[in-house]
Formats: sequence, structure tokens, C-alpha cells
Amino acid sequence: MVSLSCAQCHGPADFTGDSFLSAWEASTALDLFSQLQKTMPMDTPGSLPPQDYADIVAYFFRANAFPAGKGELPTDREQLKLIRIEQKK
Ligand code: HEC
Repeated sequence: MVSLSCAQCHGPADFTGDSFLSAWEASTALDLFSQLQKTMPMDTPGSLPPQDYADIVAYFFRANAFPAGKGELPTDREQLKLIRIEQKK
């Protein structure tokens, strides 16, 4: 599971498929990372270490069959900004 603190309220289906991808299409990994850090877990936003949020973003990408990057997803904002979310045509 993503993380216990998320599984309380979410299942994997919340983070996969067309509706998730449409919501985040043309955003970057940084947008998703920042949004998560600002809003989730809903009861204690921002309570996780940055690497956990990066790992969660990486999990979303894997769950949606995005091409795997090299190694761990970085927490560095400049690098996250370079990763763009796109739906497969
Ligand atoms: C206490 C319940 C709760 C917890 C814990 C929680 N969430 Fe949420 N989450 C929600 C609710 C409710 C919404 C939808 C409301 C909204 O969009 O503002 C939501 C929305 C989201 C969305 C937006 C979905 C979309 O389609 O764009 C994401 C991503 C997300 N949560 C990720 C997480 C992650 C990752 C965690 C763990 C770090 C987490 N949530 C923990 C309740 C929770």
C-alpha cells in the first residue's frame, strides 16, 4: 500500500486510471508533490518527510505504468519540475 497514513482514506484505485491522469495531465511531478505536501494526509497535511511524498509520487507513476526513472524520485524541486505527466496516446 502507498503508506498507512493514506490507506486510511484511499485505495489504489483513487490514484490510477483516466480520471486521475486527466486531473494531472500536463502538470509536473513537482505540482503533484507540492499538492500532496500541502493537502495530504487530510487530517495532518505536510506531516510526512519529503522523501515519503516523493516515494508516493513514484508509486503513483508506477501504478499508472509510467516509464521508470533512474533510482529514487528526487525531492529536489528543480528536478521534480522536469518530470512532466502525460497520458499515453
Ligand atoms: C483523513 C482522510 C484522508 C487521508 C488520511 C488522506 N487523504 Fe487524500 N484525500 C482525502 C479526500 C476526502 C480527498 C478528496 C477531497 C479533495 O479533493 O479535496 C483526497 C484527495 C486526494 C488526492 C487528489 C486526488 C485526485 O484525483 O487528484 C490525492 C492525490 C490524495 N488525496 C493523496 C493522498 C495521500 C498520498 C495520502 C497519504 C499521504 C492521503 N491522500 C491521505 C482524504 C484523505
